[in-house]
Amino acid sequence: MASPPIAILGTGAHAPSRILTNEELAQRVDTSHEWIVSRTGIRERRVAEPGQTTADLASAAAAEALANAGLAPADIDLLILATVTPDLDMPATACLVQQRLGIPSGAACFDVNAACTGFLYGLDVAWSMLSSGRYRHALVIGAERLSSVLDWEDRTTCVLFGDGAGAAVLGPARRPGAAILASRLHTVAGTSDLLHIPGPSYSLEPAEHRRVIRMKGKEVFKLAVRAMEDVARELLEQQRISGDQIDCIIPHQANQRIIDAIAQYLQLPLDRFFINLDRYGNTSAASIPIALHEARTQGRVQPGQLVLLVAFGAGLTYGGALVRW
Ligand code: COA
Repeated sequence: MASPPIAILGTGAHAPSRILTNEELAQRVDTSHEWIVSRTGIRERRVAEPGQTTADLASAAAAEALANAGLAPADIDLLILATVTPDLDMPATACLVQQRLGIPSGAACFDVNAACTGFLYGLDVAWSMLSSGRYRHALVIGAERLSSVLDWEDRTTCVLFGDGAGAAVLGPARRPGAAILASRLHTVAGTSDLLHIPGPSYSLEPAEHRRVIRMKGKEVFKLAVRAMEDVARELLEQQRISGDQIDCIIPHQANQRIIDAIAQYLQLPLDRFFINLDRYGNTSAASIPIALHEARTQGRVQPGQLVLLVAFGAGLTYGGALVRW
């Protein structure tokens, strides 16, 4: 008998309780609530408490995803964590989460860095590894503590980002039809300088570099719209489905205007898009899994529905996945 397809069995999310509003930011840098809302749609974001790390946020989100899937830590034999803000340069933050959750020795644990597309890169890798039959259940986590790599004096970046984590459990489908149907990952060559965190450069003394996000916002904006539109079209064509068959689109939560543009180019109504960036800002690898979890818990994603995930990020990486819930 053919083995069942791989599906998402559960989701979870966790964000720090500390809310940083636009008004508070306007007291630190030369900006305003009105400018931030009109240019980005962001109203507030979460920021980690001192000492609260990416592994802390990831562990809480993953524990919720496990509970939602009705699985125990011992059921997990693959853990992939997407982040650009790992607790340590080594070992991988995935190994720290393994220990926190009590996932047994023997599980494969590693991090991926594909910036804001990281969760979709992790999802594709986990899907492939589970489909091979060599692993049974995977935890895929996107988690970030971006507040520690922001230049809080740079108004062009510090207003955009936030902290948080989201997670999904993957395994053999339990309902007929439920499955990850397709996934595509890409990178635009020659665009690494548009969005980056200089360092850690092991050829420099620590005092010589600042590990903060630097970005050419306008160029990123244009490429982001084109990349997400392209990968969405690619997936639809590959699966021979039309845009109006998609029940819910979960885009990377970077900027309301980017989402508006994609909706316009794909000729899809905006109410088909799940949007929570107003409350979280851009949480990079955590953005899609937090949104997916909220969409599911709010009933926006129902069994049998078709869900499209699309993201872009530093690299510039981009990708998409089609999931039958
Ligand atoms: N508050 C007030 N003014 C600001 C500001 C802020 N937070 N940030 C920038 N400005 C100013 C600029 O200095 C500029 O002033 P100037 O005309 O006097 O030079 C003006 O606003 C317009 O700046 P511009 O960069 O043209 O704005 P924009 O419409 O392109 O919006 C971004 C800027 C960053 C919001 C937008 O480019 C963007 O979202 N890009 C994509 C970024 C992204 O998603 N990155 C993550 C990828 S995963």
